[in-house]
Amino acid sequence: MDLNIEMNNTILTSNNEEDTIKIGETFAEKLKLGDIVALYGDLGAGKTEFIKGVCNYFEVKDIVTSPTFTIMNHYIGSYDGDELDIYHLDLYRIKSIEELENIGFSECIYSQDTIKLIEWAEKADNILVENATYSIKIEQDDKEENKRTITIEG
Ligand SMILES: Nc1ncnc2c1ncn2[C@@H]1O[C@H](COP(=O)(O)OP(=O)(O)OP(=O)(O)O)[C@@H](O)[C@H]1O
Ligand SMILES: [Mg+2]
Repeated sequence: MDLNIEMNNTILTSNNEEDTIKIGETFAEKLKLGDIVALYGDLGAGKTEFIKGVCNYFEVKDIVTSPTFTIMNHYIGSYDGDELDIYHLDLYRIKSIEELENIGFSECIYSQDTIKLIEWAEKADNILVENATYSIKIEQDDKEENKRTITIEG
């Protein structure tokens, strides 16, 4: 597997869950405090698996699962020897921007000392499309059940 992730546009193939986690780990090396990562892809595409990889890289000890009902999970990781706050959001159930504001979305998104990983980023209208540092698109294959195409743009 070629894990040479370039700055602008990288397209990678994942053949299983482990590949996607590994790609997430390698991608995480690029992340800096304040970054927003917007993840796109259908239900079951592998967004949470990718995020597990990112969290592994930052040595998060908590269990990483889709915060579908809670909307936002907070993990503590480590960055250059300091504690790092990571926010993992899943906007699947969000119906309006007002609903997002009620959970403190803006404060979370614009915080400069945290890393934000956001599933179903398209549910926040254009806020994330315009402000995300990176966008990750995960597409399932028509023929091979476990194959995914992962496009990283940043
Ligand atoms: N190549 C692959 N990469 C990632 N996951 C895979 C792959 N092949 C199979 N899977 C399986 O697909 C599922 C992906 O689930 P995951 O929770 O990451 O999806 P998701 O995109 O976060 O979905 P949701 O929108 O429901 O949160 C897991 O059950 C995983 O085992
Ligand atoms: Mg998920």
